Amino acid sequence: MEKLMLKDIDVNNKRVFVRVDFNVPLDDNGAITDDTRIRAALPTLRYLREHAAKVVLASHLGRPKGGFEARYSVAPAARRLSELLETEVPTLSDCIGPEVEAKVAALKPGEIVMLENLRFHAAEEKNSPEFAEALARLADVYVNDAFGAAHRAHASVSGVPALIQPAAAGFLMSKELDFLGGALESPRRPFVAILGGKKVSDKIKVVETLLTRVDSLIIGGGMANTFLKACGVDVGKSLYEPSQVELAAELLDLAERSKVAVHLPIDVVVATDINAEEGEIVGLDAIPVDGAIVDIGPATGDLFASVIAAARLVLWNGPMGVFENPVFAVGTFGVAEALAASQAVTIVGGGDSAAAVEQSGLASRMTHISTGGGASLEFLEGKVLPGVAALTDRHG
Ligand code: 3PG
Repeated sequence: MEKLMLKDIDVNNKRVFVRVDFNVPLDDNGAITDDTRIRAALPTLRYLREHAAKVVLASHLGRPKGGFEARYSVAPAARRLSELLETEVPTLSDCIGPEVEAKVAALKPGEIVMLENLRFHAAEEKNSPEFAEALARLADVYVNDAFGAAHRAHASVSGVPALIQPAAAGFLMSKELDFLGGALESPRRPFVAILGGKKVSDKIKVVETLLTRVDSLIIGGGMANTFLKACGVDVGKSLYEPSQVELAAELLDLAERSKVAVHLPIDVVVATDINAEEGEIVGLDAIPVDGAIVDIGPATGDLFASVIAAARLVLWNGPMGVFENPVFAVGTFGVAEALAASQAVTIVGGGDSAAAVEQSGLASRMTHISTGGGASLEFLEGKVLPGVAALTDRHG
């Protein structure tokens, strides 16, 4: 990595601004339903405490409208962190201002405070220089461990590291970049990428980049519908993106010219309602006009598993169907099982596929599960992430 890393900088007795991504799912009672992102930041936070840093944590949570909204307070995340670290992590009443500055000034080495949700100020997302300056007043050193937010050119991600030097990557950030960067730059072969999920327009650029890197591409889930349509399949009421059909056809052409095998579903599960209690397995020529594809079929599951079994590197982003309904989770869990059984390095990216792997109970059998959804996709597209670009160059 060409950027400074946490281990390269002196944090002893320094106020360290740590941008984390504690944008965790909460239920209606404000309880955290998945603390993966908080756990993922622990190595960095433990290191900082052990090295006598005064830690100032900053995160966004949800998408508040730019003012205080109790349901988006980061306090539940700070409480969970406090349990995990077995130390007090108070949440301050705001993220900037004289009161916050005073609390931060009173920190002792090894202590941690959590700033209130950065997005309670609209200036965060606008990357306002004044807001970045107000945040920068809180620290001597900057660490970004928020891989999940690294694609956002927001004040705490982009503006603050321009003002506080050195600005280094935390351990989670480094690990994510190593795995995802390694997959793109020096992949083990055969390299198989699996793409699923709903939004083709979000992922079509990733297909283009991946076609220059992978040996095989598996496409399932809602994303496959647009590609099936491009192959002339009548997909009934299935969701697909009409504006992307032509591009999907071009990409299939490009894959053929690049000698990349593209595997699309050969059979599917259809239902008239995603909440249905059962679906029907049909061939591609028998999708009913009023039916929608909700999962891949068993023959497709076998085909995908055999391609995965032969791989030495697998990258997976996006479920194979409406896995939120357990009846239609068979294809998605089947892919998770195939990854767990394979000898390949397995990298899972994206919120839905990461959640599916957790639900399948196979998370510990994956090599790496990325904490970034949008960030991992933009990285795989080959985009420079603002949160990485803003860090201090190692030889700069
Ligand atoms: C995520 O959940 O992908 C990150 O925390 C970024 O959140 P955002 O999409 O609301 O910017």
